[in-house]
Amino acid sequence: MKTPLFFQLDSLSEPALAAEAAAGLAGAAAVVSPKFFYDALGSRLFDVITELDEYYPTRTEAGILASQGAAIVDAALSCCGPAPVLVDLGAGNCAKAARLFPALAPRRYVAIDISVDFLRGSLEALQREHPTLDLAGVGQDFSARLALPPHLTHLVDGGALVFYPGSSIGNFAPAEALRLLRDARALAKQGSESGGLLIGADLVKDPRRLERAYDDTLGVTAAFNLNLLRRLNALIGADFDLRQWRHVARFDTQHSRIEMHLEARQSLVVRWPGGERQFTTGERIHTENSYKWQPEAFEALLREAGYGTVRRFTDPEGWFGVFVARA
Ligand code: AVI
Repeated sequence: MKTPLFFQLDSLSEPALAAEAAAGLAGAAAVVSPKFFYDALGSRLFDVITELDEYYPTRTEAGILASQGAAIVDAALSCCGPAPVLVDLGAGNCAKAARLFPALAPRRYVAIDISVDFLRGSLEALQREHPTLDLAGVGQDFSARLALPPHLTHLVDGGALVFYPGSSIGNFAPAEALRLLRDARALAKQGSESGGLLIGADLVKDPRRLERAYDDTLGVTAAFNLNLLRRLNALIGADFDLRQWRHVARFDTQHSRIEMHLEARQSLVVRWPGGERQFTTGERIHTENSYKWQPEAFEALLREAGYGTVRRFTDPEGWFGVFVARA
């Protein structure tokens, strides 16, 4: 049996993360990056969100991949050739990618996530199921830059399919999404003339349905959002009292995005070592954007990033898009 290889590229320094979070809190309009959602509890809350009746993206994408899987894999293979390297961005438990293995028959699977520690258990379990497959786990915060250093480029030699499911691309503003799509294209084509991208993007729909997906009746998304304050208390030593804050999720038509905020229920002061901030009643901390794309606009973005032919697969209601693009 083979054993997975592991590489941690950028180490996450707690002081650097704390400085980034504190700077966001102290800015003219308070903003905290959504990457701070995902501590151990936040990751579990997100898993629960994906099972909520109101949160349709995960199950709609899975439905598209299950019902149109053969055509999607055919389209992908026509971009990158047979037995591609499968590169999974934000791989986590690797379950979505593993479902593609039987049809795609990858020659290597490269899982990338912010911390290689998230990947160890999943890749070791996957290796037991696929003892002869080459597996690699790479720890990289690709929200800033996606690229393999020279000593690792051999991992993607010969044509790769980059897989970025879950509509996580929606958490990037269009200019950042463009940068990430360009990086993904360069990675897919590294050391080869062929390569492809298989990506899921959530589509524009009735704003009421969108808002319900981000403000569910069980309050799980509210807990996910408020958990950010617990994380900040631990990370920067702040004294947020969660009872003084409420979850807000609104669709902003102009930017075509769900915005999540935490809103002060009363006027209050938050203190942390080296800083403090006064919030007036109703003042907000902006915690996340989730962009919703018109399918044609998303295809135009892919073309702007340099991709060639693009195939689109959607559910009958047209709520979610799975796109296969030639790198
Ligand atoms: C991870 N990402 C695609 C989710 C989304 O829908 O934007 C994060 C999320 N935030 C609230 N609910 C889900």
